[in-house]
Amino acid sequence: MEDDFSVPHYKIKMVENTQLLPREKRIGAIKRCGNNVFSLKSEEVFIDLLSDSGTSAMSDSQWASMFHGDEAYSGSKSFFRLKEAVQEVMGFPLIIPAHQGRAAEKILDEVLVKKGDVIPGNWHFDTTRAHIEYQGAIGIDCVTKEALEPAIFHPFKGNIDLEKLESVIKKHGKEKIPYILLTITCNSMGGQPVSIQNIRDTKKLADQYGIPLFFDAARFAENAFFIKKREKEFENHSIGEIVAEMFSYVDACTMSAKKDAIVNIGGFIGLRNQELYDKLVPIAILLEGYPTYGGMSGRDMEAVATGLREVISEEYLAARIGQVAYLARKLDEAGIPIIKPPGGHAVFVDGKAFLPHIPQEQFPSQALCTQLYIESGIRAVEIGTCLAGRNPQTGKNVMPKLDLMRLTIPRRVYLREHMDYIVESLKRLYARREQIKGLKFSFEATGIRHFKSRFEVIE
Ligand SMILES: Cc1ncc(COP(=O)(O)O)c(C=O)c1O
Repeated sequence: MEDDFSVPHYKIKMVENTQLLPREKRIGAIKRCGNNVFSLKSEEVFIDLLSDSGTSAMSDSQWASMFHGDEAYSGSKSFFRLKEAVQEVMGFPLIIPAHQGRAAEKILDEVLVKKGDVIPGNWHFDTTRAHIEYQGAIGIDCVTKEALEPAIFHPFKGNIDLEKLESVIKKHGKEKIPYILLTITCNSMGGQPVSIQNIRDTKKLADQYGIPLFFDAARFAENAFFIKKREKEFENHSIGEIVAEMFSYVDACTMSAKKDAIVNIGGFIGLRNQELYDKLVPIAILLEGYPTYGGMSGRDMEAVATGLREVISEEYLAARIGQVAYLARKLDEAGIPIIKPPGGHAVFVDGKAFLPHIPQEQFPSQALCTQLYIESGIRAVEIGTCLAGRNPQTGKNVMPKLDLMRLTIPRRVYLREHMDYIVESLKRLYARREQIKGLKFSFEATGIRHFKSRFEVIE
């Protein structure tokens, strides 16, 4: 695991007060929400670990840069400042701004993906896969086999398995593959990184078949930090140099700025090819707006530009990833079953191992999330059997290998004391784990069902 003691190189200038409701009120709140933490009001939550997306604390420089926001409909100065920052950090000369990551995905897929196509990758994020499927295509996950073994330590569990990738290319043919996608870090695998060697090898294979290679770059800086710490060749490189090297192998990227640009909203497509840019722009105008703002206000573009330069600070990343590693180490020491090593943005608790008496069809990690909220006002999220949904062909519940509770850490928001509180809360829950009961649906929502479903406790 990463060195987890790194003093943050920032201090706090403004605070947002939080409240811990009394236990009785927490029980009432979770009951009202049908045992689904998504329906809680944020004022009912003491520590919010639902997502690291758009939940970060911006710096004084980011807030200050927002005052320079140029809200011109066309040719905004803020757009050119964002373009310059993307070029400087990622090396892309062309950008199309979008209001968030999924909007960038939609523009790209609308133009490049058609019915019957196949998009291989390490492991697509939910919205990425949904957009691919919306076009009538399929996403194929080719992540390295070690990623699916929670007990195995592997430094780059986000890597793509090149043999699997090549067999997908051979099976479907390059005409059916508009691009290959590497998600860095790989969110669906717990924020696990991809090595430069793996990026290089993927590029070589992609070139061999003449297929473009793209990044889903939401957590690109966190990925670069892991490369520095775990890939010998890069131990003496700066994060900026590693980021430049990573991006030098890809033709384009989609970016959710809500993660590693440390802002609350925003995104873009970064690319090199003018011809592709010209094809994407008409769709971007239709879906997002004129290409010099595309779904973002001028002030938002300023904050993204500043955030992109801030996030490649090694001191920042050491504190960020160190905080996640600290939480993981403390939980591990307390005997709480977690996925190891932790990734960059979250710690995953193994719900099935925590609650072995609850069968998987009774949603152990969902039960754990509701109990953690009742225990201590902490909101975590289930990434397991509820989220996995039903097989569209058979209508049966999908039983994923892993049923997890994700503790997602927002950037620059919580302190070490908060991490200790989370550990103590989970220790208390673990001590009384046999009393925790399984859940069943009282209302099963359609679509991505974990947002809106309701549950009742199985007595
Ligand atoms: C890897 C990855 N790609 C894409 C997205 C979608 O981005 P957004 O939420 O900004 O639409 C996310 C969001 O969590 C993500 O983690």
